[in-house]
Amino acid sequence: MTIQPSKSPIGLDGVPAAETVLSHVDGEKGELIIAGEHVADLARKSSFEGVTARLWSAANATLISEAEVRAALGEARARAFARLPQLLGAAEGLSVVDGFRSAVAGLRAESGLTHDATIVGAMPVIAAALVQRAKGAAPKFPNPTLSHAGDTLAMLHGRTPNASEAAALDAYFVTVSDHGMNASTFAARVVASTQADLFAAITAGYCALTGPLHGGAPEPVLEMLDAIGTRERIAPWIDSALARGERLMGFGHRVYRVRDPRADVLKTAIERLATNTTDLPFAAEVEAYARAALRRSKPDRPLDTNVEFFTAILLDALSIPRQAFTPIFAVARSAGWTAHAREQQRRGRLLRPSSVYVGDMPS
Ligand code: ACO
Repeated sequence: MTIQPSKSPIGLDGVPAAETVLSHVDGEKGELIIAGEHVADLARKSSFEGVTARLWSAANATLISEAEVRAALGEARARAFARLPQLLGAAEGLSVVDGFRSAVAGLRAESGLTHDATIVGAMPVIAAALVQRAKGAAPKFPNPTLSHAGDTLAMLHGRTPNASEAAALDAYFVTVSDHGMNASTFAARVVASTQADLFAAITAGYCALTGPLHGGAPEPVLEMLDAIGTRERIAPWIDSALARGERLMGFGHRVYRVRDPRADVLKTAIERLATNTTDLPFAAEVEAYARAALRRSKPDRPLDTNVEFFTAILLDALSIPRQAFTPIFAVARSAGWTAHAREQQRRGRLLRPSSVYVGDMPS
């Protein structure tokens, strides 16, 4: 029995799966609107708590203030810390990325907190505890008076971050908090569309995020920069990778036909951080050469920088270990996932697409 693969690439490109008030991606213009604001404006003027308040308010059609979100997330971080022994029990022996999946799957309702706050609040506590465990260290207590981004860094590094470090991670959290019908949000919405609870939907979202075609790309971006190593090697390394048919990590996007607008927002955040631990000019040279090389090798398919290229450089500049990049992405994206899951539960229809059968027919 042979299976003939379909000649048409079926990936639901351009197929609307839901109506949403949460975010909008225009791939031709290179535009991202989150809860009514352009991403660059939002990153300039809003905190992660502020954008989360906007997303939750829009999804639930009720006004939730930034102060309420800040208080709820602080309390949720403290509650999650108290439950770490149970949450991390099933993560024994797993990597940070896989341990995070297992711990997130173990979250459950906390009295007095919404499920949304329990989930988003627990995410950095789990990620930081797994990073500490990988170093053989004990988890660090959360500080509910810090911002979500500041406390994430404090728990990861065991010291209070300075203002520019906290601002840089906050800008990253805002920038990647939501992004239309990306694969992980779609996965979360599919689960929510069955009226399964928020914990199930967010676990599904995280599982979809972990792949290198989605949120698993930043670690390979750094590996690529390491492998290139020096300025002289940029051209030969990229040319031979493309000649071998390899994909350059941090480039290309299903929707954007121009540069991902989030790339510039993150580049600005790195410049503001002004750290000497990162070689931004080298990364910018790699980026420029890669864009030109992709134009030459795929003239019919516009391929440009995506968010993951500068995510890798920003998170590295903040001394966040590579193995925690995907969980840290999830910390931010959980704001969008929870909002989308709520919106789907409130207004959506069971998501149940069809498939094209290319197998044998009964004789
Ligand atoms: N480097 C080299 N070639 C590429 C790249 C790339 N980064 N991306 C796509 N191409 C090529 C493909 O090989 C394909 O060539 P072919 O027609 O000769 O086979 C052509 O461009 C079209 O590719 P598609 O598979 O149609 O692109 P798709 O929309 O499915 O892929 C994706 C989007 C997965 C992001 C892809 O560009 C990729 O793999 N990029 C590298 C990984 C990455 O950066 N992931 C993070 C994405 S951002 C995010 O999810 C948060």
